[in-house]
This record gives sequence, structure tokens and C-alpha cells, in this order.
Amino acid sequence: MARLFSLALLVGAGCVYAQSSSGLAPKKYEYLPLGAVKPAGWLYDQLIVQTNGLAGHEHDFYALVAQSDWIGGDSDYSDLEEAGSYWFNGMVPNGVLVDDPTIKSQTQQFLDYVLDHQDETGWFGPEVNTTKPRYLWGRYPFMFGAIQIAESDPAQVGKIVPALHKFVALANSMLKNGEGLNDGGWAKTRWEDFVITLQWLYDNHPDGHEDLLLETMKLLKWTGDPWEEVFSAQYFPTGPTEDLQNPFDLPLVWHGVNMAEGLKALPATYRFTHNQSDLDRVSEGWDLLFKYHGRPSGIYAADEYLAGLEAIRGGSYLYQVIGDPKYADRVERITYNALPATLTGDMWARQYLQQQNQIAAKNMTPNPFPNDGSYSNVFGLEPNYPCCTVNHPQGWPNIVANSFLTTPDKQSLVHLYLGPFSTNTTLANDNQVTVNVDTLYPFGDTLATTITASKDFTYYVRIPSWVTQGTIAVNGGAAQGVAPQNGLHAVQVKAGTTKFVLDLPAEITTEARPHGSIAVHRGPLHYAYDIARNATVLVQRAEARAQDLEFDATAPWQYAIDPSSLKFNNNPPASGSLPSPIFDSGLPPYTISASACQVEWGVAGDTFAASPPENPACVGAKTTITLWPFGATKLRIGEFPVVDLSKQ
Ligand SMILES: *[C@@H]1O[C@H](CO)[C@@H](O)[C@H](O)[C@H]1NC(C)=O
Ligand SMILES: *[C@@H]1O[C@H](CO)[C@@H](O)[C@H](O)[C@H]1NC(C)=O
Ligand SMILES: *[C@@H]1O[C@H](CO)[C@@H](O)[C@H](O)[C@H]1NC(C)=O
Ligand SMILES: *[C@@H]1O[C@H](CO)[C@@H](O)[C@H](O)[C@H]1NC(C)=O
Repeated sequence: MARLFSLALLVGAGCVYAQSSSGLAPKKYEYLPLGAVKPAGWLYDQLIVQTNGLAGHEHDFYALVAQSDWIGGDSDYSDLEEAGSYWFNGMVPNGVLVDDPTIKSQTQQFLDYVLDHQDETGWFGPEVNTTKPRYLWGRYPFMFGAIQIAESDPAQVGKIVPALHKFVALANSMLKNGEGLNDGGWAKTRWEDFVITLQWLYDNHPDGHEDLLLETMKLLKWTGDPWEEVFSAQYFPTGPTEDLQNPFDLPLVWHGVNMAEGLKALPATYRFTHNQSDLDRVSEGWDLLFKYHGRPSGIYAADEYLAGLEAIRGGSYLYQVIGDPKYADRVERITYNALPATLTGDMWARQYLQQQNQIAAKNMTPNPFPNDGSYSNVFGLEPNYPCCTVNHPQGWPNIVANSFLTTPDKQSLVHLYLGPFSTNTTLANDNQVTVNVDTLYPFGDTLATTITASKDFTYYVRIPSWVTQGTIAVNGGAAQGVAPQNGLHAVQVKAGTTKFVLDLPAEITTEARPHGSIAVHRGPLHYAYDIARNATVLVQRAEARAQDLEFDATAPWQYAIDPSSLKFNNNPPASGSLPSPIFDSGLPPYTISASACQVEWGVAGDTFAASPPENPACVGAKTTITLWPFGATKLRIGEFPVVDLSKQ
């Protein structure tokens, strides 16, 4: 009732806030247009694996995406209601970043169809001329994809931008009439996605519609779920939410994916409220989320996989608006650990839920998840929900596209997410800049960067918080300690060519986990025991590569480790390049060895490891086990019981 009341007030006062508005606050950093940053080295290969995997083939065989279904199809998922939009949003940047003509033509066809079928009211997609109720949300990911096409191919701006403005005018009138936001649907929780599109128009192509854009942003905020309250310490859930009474009577705000989406809401709001409280609240909410629900893989519990994708995107946006390095460190950890762990190495199968201690991936008996199906930790085409099948392609392209930023005055370039890249852009004063970063990071500690520039400028590179005794050597000079301020180290670049080498070592660290267990980290990577497995094909399809797979352990996994014994090993590839794919058993060059012994450790049902035993006694001889980067393990122990083996 209170929410309805504030909506009525807001609509009634429409002309007042439109006139008194002082526009949008600038972001701290801006990303570069899609295509200006390209993946290189192993990261390019990872996108090729994705292109050759499920993501790159959905358009050929997967009914929810394949063209024959989405033109005129009426399933709940196809069209712009979810499947088509998600797929488009991921495959637009995938196609551009690896310059794949097939994928680019598929996404172009999709864009053309949707825009060519915009009706006179402004509604677009296959849903025109139908009696379907009109809900706004499904169109939000489509608009993200359309924006990325406009950025990568400015010749299409003249077609895309007017279509978006026409849709905004329609959405504005729908919101004022109380239409477009279905109760129990996503539009009220994910309003921030539309706000971000409106801000892109405002920042880049306002075309005289500034007031309407701002008014629509405010309508969305005041009709949408109240994230400033959800993320307050007073209401934040500090444990599992199944048995808690939701104080807002809005259970969807505690849905894992929506929470990740909601992280973007307050910084998006801040840009038009100019209320510092919005930024402080999201910072507190971020800390609460990871304090109470965080996992060593970087992500937080609850619908982990899709939440992971959204947290990558949300964290990137938070960094761009706020500039706090904690967001960037977290995004990098999720990307290099939780994301690849939940896909097979060849990226033909994915899970819905992932576990830190995952001793099997199979149809679960009993099913421990109150809200998710028993099939949700199988690796397959669409375990549990089809949404991740169509949404998973956005993870890697997004990290690449957001890895370089500029300061708002466009004088400086910032290398945010570390990895191999090549970048080509024009900074302020027509400063033509290219950057090549040659590295195996996160499977290597050194990054060799070559910059060419037509003018002098200041270049920034992020130094992650876990780096100890990092050094930089510029133009062949002596290595000097890095001196980051707010997470960024400045390099003064002269016109011409500048080269520097960063060395960013890190100590092995352990993280305390429940029941006295520990998780092991070094730098951006989390390390786990990779349980030997066999695979059983559960479902075979006409597309032979799209199988559903059960994984079972074929070796003991009941190990406790001695934290004092942890030792880092590097086995760099002789060829200089990493194997392809890299995220599978036995492949990464970095490992950690640990003294260990087997202990009594039971199972819960036939699928899960019970909680790690506290203060266990060895039941087997002292041995040495190898811990591998978490993303390369598909069955694993990531949280270990602890033993003292120093006297054995
Ligand atoms: C809607 O249907 C009418 C009648 O079949 C057709 O003329 C019109 O082009 C259709 N509109 C769109 C946007 O597809
Ligand atoms: C800023 O946001 C806080 C928290 O939502 C709110 O209590 C306060 O009234 C807002 N300030 C202004 C000036 O709107
Ligand atoms: C960078 O982009 C500019 C403009 O598109 C182009 O002329 C130039 O050749 C590119 N440089 C490199 C090294 O790719
Ligand atoms: C996998 O290993 C388990 C445990 O050893 C065994 O019971 C099962 O039959 C094996 N499955 C396959 C497909 O080899």
C-alpha cells in the first residue's frame, strides 16, 4: 500500500521533478565502446571455446533461440520475453570480440527483425500484433544488446536510437498508467536494467528527450522494489532466507539473481537523486551480502551460477559509478573461479547450482534445495531452468568489454581487470592510443604492457588488494615497488612507445569457513582438490555435443589438510601459451600442494559431502595432495577440515 501511495504522489508531482532536475551525475569511469578492447592470448581462446561450444551453436539447434521458433513463437521463454533477449545480449559482444561472421549475422538478423516489427505505439519484437499482455522486463536485455551494436557499429545508431526513444515514450505512458509491471514478475525487481539503458541514451544520444528520460528513470525507481531498504543492515537476511519472513512482502528481492541485479539499482539511482546515501547503502549491502553469504569462489550462495553472471555485470557497473577497488577485486575472483567451474571445459554443458564441496553432479536424492529442482547440479543443456542456457554467454564478453575504462575527461585510460588484451582507442585531444597486454594472468604473475600514444598521458593499472611486493619496470629500467592509490598505479606515458612489466606476486592465504574448515587462495585464484570423476550420459540429443552429464567420484575425497604445509608450484607451458581449453582437470600451470590425510567424513543423501568434520583424526597415512584452480575442477573439495601433520 505504501508503495502505491508513493507512486501516486510521484505521478501527481511529475512536472515538478522534471523541471527541478539537475541532470545525471557523471560516473567515475566510462567503459570503452564495444570492440575497442579485444581479448588476446588465453582470453581470446576462451571466447573461441565459447563460440565453438553451446553458446555459439544455440541459434542452430536450440528451440528457444532458433529462428523458426522466435518468429511467431509464443512460448513463455522465447521471443523478447526472456530467451531471445538473453541470447542476443550475450552473443552481440561474443560475435564482435572474436569477429565471427556467422554470429554477427545472426545477431544482426535478430536486431533487424525486432526493429522492423516495431509497431506505431513503440512496442517491438515478435510480440506486436498479439494479444499477449505487455510486460516491460523482457525487452531490457534486448536493449543492452542493441546498445552494444550501436557502439560497435556507429553506422547503425540512426536506426537503433530512434527506435529506443520511441519505446521509451511508450514505456513512460505505460508506467504512468500502472501498466507493464507484472506483480510477481521481474519488471519490479529489475527496473534498474531499464534505467541503465535510459542513462545510456541520456549520456550519448539524448536527442532533446532529456526530461522524458529522467522522468522515466524516476517512475521506474518509485514503482520498483525498494533496494535501499533491502540492502540496509536493518532488513538484510543474515542467514538462509527460506524460513524468514520477508519484511517487504516481496520475496523476489531475496532471489539470488535479483539481488545481484539489485546491486546496480542504487548507483543507477544516485545518478539522478545525487543522494550520497544511495552509494553508501550499496557499499554496505555489498559487504553484507558477501559477509553473510559469500563463498571462496568469489560468488555468494543462492542460485549461484546466474547470480554469478549478474554479479560480474553489477560489480563492473558499481566500479564505474563509485570507483571503489573492492568491486573490481570481487568481479575478477568470480570470473576466474565461480564462472568457469560451473561449465564443462569445452563449454557445451553448464550447471544451475554449484557447490564448494561437490562430490557428485547428478540428479539429487534427496533434493536439498527448497526452490530449485533436483536436476540443478547436473552439467547439461538446460538443467533446472533454460534461462542460463541463453544467458551464460554474457559472462566472458562482459568482462572483456569492461576491462578498460577512461576517466570522465577522457584524458586517461585505466586497465581494470587483469588479463591479456589489446585495446585501440582515441582519448581526449585526439590522442591515438593502443595498448597490448601480454600475460598468462591469472595463471601467471607478470604482465608485459606495450603502449603507443600520439600524446603524453597518464595510464592507470589496477593493483589487486592481494598483491604483495608488486613491482613495475618501465622501459627496461629497474623494477620499483608499485604505489597504488585507491587501487590504481599511475604510469606517465610519453608520446611514442612505452613498455612496462608488472610483477604481481601474492602469498598463499587461507580463509576460515564454517565448522573449522579452511579455503585456500593465492592471488585471484581459489584452489580446490580436484576429485577424479567419470561421466555418465543422462540425455543424448540430435545435436550430439549437447549432452546432459552426470559426474561421479572415482577416488577418495575425504581429505583433511595441514595449512602449514601449503606450497605453491608453477609449471609454465614450454610453448608460452596455455592449453585450450584451460578450465579443465590437470591443465592450469599453477597448483598448490598440501600435506593431507584421509579422515572420517560422511555423505548427506547420496550426492553431498556432509559438513567438514571438526578436529578430525587421520584414518589414513600422511600423503601429499595437489590443489588446482577452482575453475578447472568439476568435482571438488574447496573447504577442508584441518589437521596438524607436522609431527608425522
Ligand atoms: C500487424 O498486422 C497487420 C495486419 O496483418 C500488418 O499490416 C502490420 O504490418 C503488422 N504490424 C507489424 C508491426 O508487424
Ligand atoms: C537520501 O536517501 C535516504 C535513504 O533512502 C533518505 O532517507 C533521504 O531522505 C534521502 N535524501 C534526500 C535529500 O532525498
Ligand atoms: C586503431 O584504430 C584506428 C581507427 O579505427 C585505425 O586506423 C588503426 O589502424 C588502429 N590501430 C591498430 C594498431 O589496430
Ligand atoms: C563411475 O564410477 C562409479 C564409482 O566407482 C561407479 O559406480 C560407476 O559405475 C561408474 N560409472 C561409469 C559410467 O563408469
